[in-house]
Amino acid sequence: MCGILGYTGPRQASDILLNGLAKLEYRGYDSAGVAVLDKGEIKIAKNKGRLKALEEKIKAGGAEKISGTCGIGHTRWATHGEPSEVNAHPLWSDDMSVVAVHNGIVENYREIKNELSQHGYKFYSQTDTEAAVKLIDFYYKQAQAESDGRDKDKLPLKAILKAIKKIEGSYCFVLLFKDYPDEVWGARKDLPLIAGQGQGESFLASDVSAILQDTRQVYYLDNLEIVQLKKGVVRFFDTEGYAKPKELSEVTWDMNAAEKGGFEHFMMKEIHEQARAVKDTLGSVYNSGRIHLNEMGLSDESIKEISQIYIIACGSAYHAGAVAQYVIEDLAKIPVRIELASEFRYRNMPFDKKALAIIISQSGETADTLAAMRRAKENGIKTLAIVNVVGSTIAREADSVFYTMAGPEIAVATTKAYSAQLIAAYVLAIQFAKVRGELDENASEKLIEEIQKLPEKIDEILDEKGRLEEIAYKFVNARNAFYLGRNIDYAVAMEGSLKMKEISYLHSEACAAGEMKHGPISLIEKGMLVAGIMTQKSLYQKLASNMLEAKSRGGFLLIVATRGCEDLKDEADFVFYIPETDEHFAASLAVIPLQLLGYYVAVARKLDVDKPRNLAKSVTVE
Ligand code: F6R
Repeated sequence: MCGILGYTGPRQASDILLNGLAKLEYRGYDSAGVAVLDKGEIKIAKNKGRLKALEEKIKAGGAEKISGTCGIGHTRWATHGEPSEVNAHPLWSDDMSVVAVHNGIVENYREIKNELSQHGYKFYSQTDTEAAVKLIDFYYKQAQAESDGRDKDKLPLKAILKAIKKIEGSYCFVLLFKDYPDEVWGARKDLPLIAGQGQGESFLASDVSAILQDTRQVYYLDNLEIVQLKKGVVRFFDTEGYAKPKELSEVTWDMNAAEKGGFEHFMMKEIHEQARAVKDTLGSVYNSGRIHLNEMGLSDESIKEISQIYIIACGSAYHAGAVAQYVIEDLAKIPVRIELASEFRYRNMPFDKKALAIIISQSGETADTLAAMRRAKENGIKTLAIVNVVGSTIAREADSVFYTMAGPEIAVATTKAYSAQLIAAYVLAIQFAKVRGELDENASEKLIEEIQKLPEKIDEILDEKGRLEEIAYKFVNARNAFYLGRNIDYAVAMEGSLKMKEISYLHSEACAAGEMKHGPISLIEKGMLVAGIMTQKSLYQKLASNMLEAKSRGGFLLIVATRGCEDLKDEADFVFYIPETDEHFAASLAVIPLQLLGYYVAVARKLDVDKPRNLAKSVTVE
């Protein structure tokens, strides 16, 4: 996720901003920028790449060119538009009246752009942010025109209030208004924004770690609050524009903890970011009651022509693909083959030129996945990449891209990117089904409504994480585990098992439950963890029989089941219920307790959860 900062006080703003942004580098970013307001003029420096390069650019340009004591800064992790200087923040309105940095996603930016174009606005970047900045500028100019002069100090507030009523999505904005020296404004919805109070100076930041070196006195903004900074003064407003009192809090965390947002590990932080990742990924393609795939080059005509789908990926991305296979086949009735990239790249197979290859990758740099995608392209197959890192090689080389909105993932073991990949797969399945006449408008709308409810349900599961922490201690000395499932539950079992083995080093196998009796069952010993996933009603009994076979050989049965599934209630040693959802989307919920289980076993074993041995976040070698 991007980093965001604002400062006003007696010191040089660019120094404070660059130091603060450096504290946010751990979150990952691809470009950075600052804007400083001085004597009624806003000066901007930004570039693609590291902060160091921005610092050098500022120095080379003569630091005095960006001198001033009021400013905003940003580290960008691209979502809309490739990483580039043009798309880097800050972004500005045409006459520089309004300059802003932004985290999050303006879901209805296309609609806003269209409306503003009719008022003569032109757009220079590919970002959603520019639409928001210009919308604020539009309302600001409107407020100026209507003003009799007595409400001059309220005009920025009026403009922001109107804009946030119009903007859909989750966001956090920090803004400068050229005509308001020494003032910084901010607003948030669903993304964090913190105000800091110093001696004669004040701060805004997306993450407390960015300002901890300057102050430990902070205000936490509530959702849909607006904040105004003046030197040493911080004021808050509600959505009606009324001033709101707020209590100052003292931060007692050390710097390291703050960077992880108070969590002990990045993995746990990212597990908690899944609800947002799901919401943002859906929000990036679904708005105004429609799924927009046209912009990613998937016209209705091309969707109708698809004869079959190859899903190509590695590791967890492959597991997301395995879920996608079941969902796409069932909803859109298109045959799907799921392929390990490392195998696909060397296979001699008859390529179906009317096939669509869906490439799934968090990093967009995985060597095998990239090579497999190139192989598909060489053989005349159209490629669609589901990628998290904007501008990555796979994203650049694919014929079209569906960006997941998980934000930067730091823990080696993926969690939120996997969850976002599932959402991309669901959306494709629904749209393919709709375009090909397999789903009517009503049915597809109902499915989207179910996806919209997933974030809340994910958080509901996280509220019960303590139960998994307790049970995890039981497996501190365990040596082997099995994860069983059928259909989508088998795909989830694969991911759950990988989560366990890669971070806790507990040897674990996923098995399609029906395959147990063909060999693997001979491995079951007394007390061995056998995890079963039960979200597909028609298969409850089948799975239950397989689990009981494991139990009678001494297995410890741990069940993750949809609420209402009673099948192993009495026989299982531990049952974790997840909320009900449409069965196509159950993987999004069932995976959460399994991620937590892997995490807690690794913690109980005192292992380096975020950086497991022998593993790299991005596997760029074969
Ligand atoms: C497991 C994990 C890996 C990746 C795999 C593919 O937690 O993260 O299995 O899923 O290395 O990586 P990407 O998605 O970057 O292509």
